[in-house]
Amino acid sequence: MKNKSYILILLLMITGIIHSCKKDAENDAVQTTPYNLIIPSGFPPANIPVGNPLTVEGIELGHHLFYDPILSSNGLSCSSCHIAGMAYSSPAFVAANGDSISVLQIMNLAFNPDFTWNGQFPTTEAVCMGDFEPPFFNTNMDTLVDRLESSTKYKNMFFRAFGNNAFRSMSDLELKTKIVAAIGQFIRTLTSADSKFDRYLNHTENLTSSELTGMAIFFTEQGDCFHCHGGPLMTSNAITNNGLDSIPSGQDRGKYNYTGNILDDGKFSIPSLRNIALTAPYMHDGRYQTLEEVVEFYNSSVHQTSPNIDPIMTKAFKEFGLQLTPFEKQCLVDFLKTFTDTAFVNNPNYQQPN
Ligand code: HEC
Ligand code: HEC
Repeated sequence: MKNKSYILILLLMITGIIHSCKKDAENDAVQTTPYNLIIPSGFPPANIPVGNPLTVEGIELGHHLFYDPILSSNGLSCSSCHIAGMAYSSPAFVAANGDSISVLQIMNLAFNPDFTWNGQFPTTEAVCMGDFEPPFFNTNMDTLVDRLESSTKYKNMFFRAFGNNAFRSMSDLELKTKIVAAIGQFIRTLTSADSKFDRYLNHTENLTSSELTGMAIFFTEQGDCFHCHGGPLMTSNAITNNGLDSIPSGQDRGKYNYTGNILDDGKFSIPSLRNIALTAPYMHDGRYQTLEEVVEFYNSSVHQTSPNIDPIMTKAFKEFGLQLTPFEKQCLVDFLKTFTDTAFVNNPNYQQPN
């Protein structure tokens, strides 16, 4: 898990307040350009933190920082783990304690209410504050300041975005707060809403007969996926237990690990299924390598006695599993593959900048 704590969030909130008070004075020197995020039809309103509105200049800075190992002392950048071709995820990351953690996608985050698998963080900024720590960037702040100082590009970009590029006179926290603010702005522009399934809904593309059969399973009580993975974001954004383990332990306890509330045992933030064919392995710990394995889990291996299991998983007759035939399971997998949005993955506005 990322090295994050409530104290960090609190500090971030406090500095956010200080930052936004100071900002007026700083911004006297520069004029930023508001960025108009295009919200795909049917999506909920964007959830932009107060104090960090989207600006053209902030997004440009964040875009460059996202791809640049300049932030780390170990050669990593955000894009080392959040890779465009995998819908900004990558194969599972192995933490120092040996836990594997599936790398979450960076996609439609402007519409997310909470972040990370267990839903622990209220903003992407709070998540990214943890990225300066080992095992992520392990950043030495002094050398980071030196590197930024000697980069004309970043001196200019920071000034345009924040009216301030006096890196040496910023506290570590102030500099980190600006960095995660810019990156937060950039990653909130990564929007995916043009999959084959979207185009089917817009009547501009047809689904095959097997995809249509899979769709019927997904959106009816037969598969019952839609309750949790329905809607334009393909997640209800709830935090729940889908029954992966009979007795969750370690990281499998999910939300319990940060609330300490036994009623949160086994609960995870429901992930979006958009671009799911590109983001193997699956579940918070990457326990399933393929969509076939995931479908088989829902079909026959849900642990009905898992603590706090979602009532949808224990409806009458589900004690015998979903009882899908091999053909129906294949159709469901085929339908899940229609959520792939190649225009998103290939969008040059999101890829490595020049
Ligand atoms: C070493 C790999 C690695 C690096 C480097 C990395 N991440 Fe991540 N990222 C992860 C993993 C693993 C998760 C899931 C963590 C969890 O849920 O506990 C994650 C989760 C996230 C999330 C939460 C997404 C969601 O849907 O809740 C955001 C946002 C994020 N990363 C942004 C970034 C940014 C921005 C950077 C660069 C500052 C970055 N990450 C660097 C591996 C990485
Ligand atoms: C009760 C809510 C619920 C229902 C119903 C449900 N899911 Fe999920 N789904 C979840 C949760 C929660 C997770 C994340 C669990 C974890 O990683 O611990 C998840 C994870 C997944 C993942 C892995 C996502 C990733 O990024 O790794 C896939 C794929 C998936 N579900 C597909 C389905 C399909 C197909 C169905 C119907 C057969 C379905 N789900 C029904 C709640 C649900």
